[in-house]
Amino acid sequence: MARLDVTEIFHGITFPGHLHTQESLCYATDFKFQDADILIVTYPKSGTTWMQELITLVLCRGDPKISQTQPNWARAPWIEQYYCPNILKALKGPRLLTTHLPYKVLAPALQGSKAKVIYVARNPKDVIVSYYYFHKMANFLTDPGTFSEFLSSFLDGKVYYGSWFDHVKEWTNNERNNDHFLYITYEEMWEDLHGSLEKVSQFLQCPLLEHESASVKNNCSFNTMKDNCMVNYTLIPQEIMDHSKGRFMRKGQVGDWVNTFSKEQSHIFDVVYNSKMVDSMLTFVWER
Ligand code: A3P
Repeated sequence: MARLDVTEIFHGITFPGHLHTQESLCYATDFKFQDADILIVTYPKSGTTWMQELITLVLCRGDPKISQTQPNWARAPWIEQYYCPNILKALKGPRLLTTHLPYKVLAPALQGSKAKVIYVARNPKDVIVSYYYFHKMANFLTDPGTFSEFLSSFLDGKVYYGSWFDHVKEWTNNERNNDHFLYITYEEMWEDLHGSLEKVSQFLQCPLLEHESASVKNNCSFNTMKDNCMVNYTLIPQEIMDHSKGRFMRKGQVGDWVNTFSKEQSHIFDVVYNSKMVDSMLTFVWER
């Protein structure tokens, strides 16, 4: 099947042209945030869909009706993607929004806003592997080549949405002490979903009763989500996402990178990571 990998370049960063236009990217940089907005920020493959599902369920107090009937992109749209303005017309209540944009691109729009921002980060070795397999099945992204080639592009920041290192460092270094900012990791959610849910619901000032919390956890578990067509992307036509080449809800594991990285690739990664992350306080769980 032919690839639909048109690229859009904005602020020196490449974006999949299938979902982004110069106009939609400008719309995002000029986004009019409302105080009640909730914005999920992630580098791709870091647990975006998981957090979209968790927050949808928190806002519905555990009732899965919306998460089972509305696709994630319609209830938590990416503000930089072309369809966002139309979707926003239909959103009610606190708007749940999503972005993969780097800090420097979105910071002016967020300046002075009281919108709540939840940043989800994931250990980058698992991000790379997840991203690599996603490229293989998502026809609107470039062919990733071999894993070695993809790793090298990732380390150079020459992948869609730019450098992972810049993304996590700029968001966290600049926003970490802001009351409206919550930092959480994929690994923390994986290890302690209950604690993570408490953290998020407290941050959103939406405390849940025990049975509501139990329903949220059940409905945003990997096993439930992998069979929910509203979040597993099986609604997307085959020519855009080829599900015969892999699943969006692939493995959902911590430390799965060991099954793809060679020892040498892991070493190459570690050297770059150690040099690029010297000015960050972040630490990651690499294995479970
Ligand atoms: P894998 O490819 O490692 O399986 P994003 O939504 O940011 O694109 O991230 C997708 C990754 O999150 C995929 O990782 C997917 O399986 C994982 N994921 C989604 N929902 C999850 C859940 N409920 N539990 C664990 N992992 C989940």
